Amino acid sequence: MSKAMGCKRFNIFLLMLSVLAITACEGSAGWETGPTAEPTAEPTAVPSTEPTAEPTTEPSAEPTPQISVTSLHAEADFPIGVGVPAGNASNSLIDSLDRQQIVNAHFSQITAENIMKPDALHPAEDDYFWDDAVALVDYAAVNGMSVHGHTLIWHNQIPTWMSNHTGTAEQWTTMMQTHINTIVGRFADTAAVVSWNVVNEAFTDDAPSVYRNTLWFSNIGEDYFAQAFTAARAADEDADLYYNDVRLELNGSKMNRVVTMIEAFKANGTPIDGIGFQMHVSLTSPEKTAIESAFARVVNLGLKVKITEMDVTVNDDKSLSALALDTELAQAARYQEIVKAYMDAVPAAQRGGISVWGITDDDSGLPELHQRDEWPLLFNANFTPKHALQGFADGLVGGGSE
Ligand code: XIL
Repeated sequence: MSKAMGCKRFNIFLLMLSVLAITACEGSAGWETGPTAEPTAEPTAVPSTEPTAEPTTEPSAEPTPQISVTSLHAEADFPIGVGVPAGNASNSLIDSLDRQQIVNAHFSQITAENIMKPDALHPAEDDYFWDDAVALVDYAAVNGMSVHGHTLIWHNQIPTWMSNHTGTAEQWTTMMQTHINTIVGRFADTAAVVSWNVVNEAFTDDAPSVYRNTLWFSNIGEDYFAQAFTAARAADEDADLYYNDVRLELNGSKMNRVVTMIEAFKANGTPIDGIGFQMHVSLTSPEKTAIESAFARVVNLGLKVKITEMDVTVNDDKSLSALALDTELAQAARYQEIVKAYMDAVPAAQRGGISVWGITDDDSGLPELHQRDEWPLLFNANFTPKHALQGFADGLVGGGSE
C-alpha cells in the first residue's frame, strides 16, 4: 500500500539525540508500580501544537518537525486502535464530538477502556448489562471500525458477587465458563467485534510464584487459563483470542511464563491466537532491543502480536510541570521507535494491531495513578495533535518487513 505522507519528513531520531539524553530518565511507567507521593506542581499551560521555539538544549540545523498526518490508520494495513471512555464517563466518546472527530479520523479499532470489563458487563450472577457496550460497538460499526474486547478474566474490576462466590473448583469453572460464553456469545454475530483479551495480567513478574494469586487461580488452579480460552473459542470460533499482560517487553520471567503457556497450549490443542503487549512505557525503558526480542519470541511461536494499551510517560522523576517542546519531541521519537520495532520484528501476517490507551492526555488515568503530571498520549487536552502522532505515523512508514 502507498504510505506516502505528502510532505518532507524529518528525522526525529537525529534531531532528538541530544535532547533524549537530557530529558530521559529511567523509571517505571506501568499501571501498577507508580510512585505514591504527591504531585510536585500543577500544569501551568495547555501544551501548544504550534511550537514557538527551537529546542534550546543544543542548536540544530534541522527545522522543527511538523505534524502533517491526517489519518493515522490510513498509514497501516492492520488495526490502529484506541482505548476509549464510554458509558457514563464524563469524557465518554459517545457524548464528545471532539473525541469522535479524532477517533474517526485516526483510528480503525476501538477498545472499551472500562465498560466491557466484568464489573460493567456482569453486575450480578444472573444479570448482564449490555446497553453501554452495545452503544459503543454500534458506534464502531457505523463508523467502520472494529472492536477489541477487553477483558473477560482479570483480577481487577470484577463484580462483588464474583469476588464473594463460593464453591468447588468445578463450580468455579462452570461459573467462569458461563461468564465467558455469555459475553463472547452476545457479540459473536456482531461483525465489529473481532478479538478478545481472554485473560489479562495473570502472571507475576518474578519468582518464586508463577501465577498471580487471583480468585481464578486460587479457586480453579492453573487449569483456568486453558478453560477460559476453550470457553471463548466455543462461544465465537472466529474471534482472535489474546492473552494480555503488562511489562512483557522487559523480556524477563513473565515473558518466559507466557512462552511456557503458549507451548503448553500448542501441545494440548488449547486455542490461542495472539499475545497482547500493553506497552505502558517511559521514554527510555524498556530498550528497543528488548521490545524487539520479546515480539520475536511470540512471532517464532506462530502467534499474533498486538500492542494493546500503549502510552509513553515523560515525567517519571516528577521534574516537569508542563510539556515543553524538547520533551514532546523525545516522546515522538519514542513512539516512532516502538512502532518501528513492531514493524521490523512482526511480519505482516502476524500483526494484530497497535492501540494507544486513551484519546487525549486529559483522558489518561496515569496522572491520577502516579500522582504526577503526565502527557502520555497522541493528542493534547484541547484535542490538537501532538508530535507523538507524527512519530507514530513515521514509525509505520519507516518500519521494516511487509
Ligand atoms: C484502567 C483504566 O484506564 C482506568 O480508567 C481504570 O480505572 C483502571 O483500569 N491494564 C489494563 C487496563 O488492562 O484495563 C487498565 O485500564 C490499565 C492497566
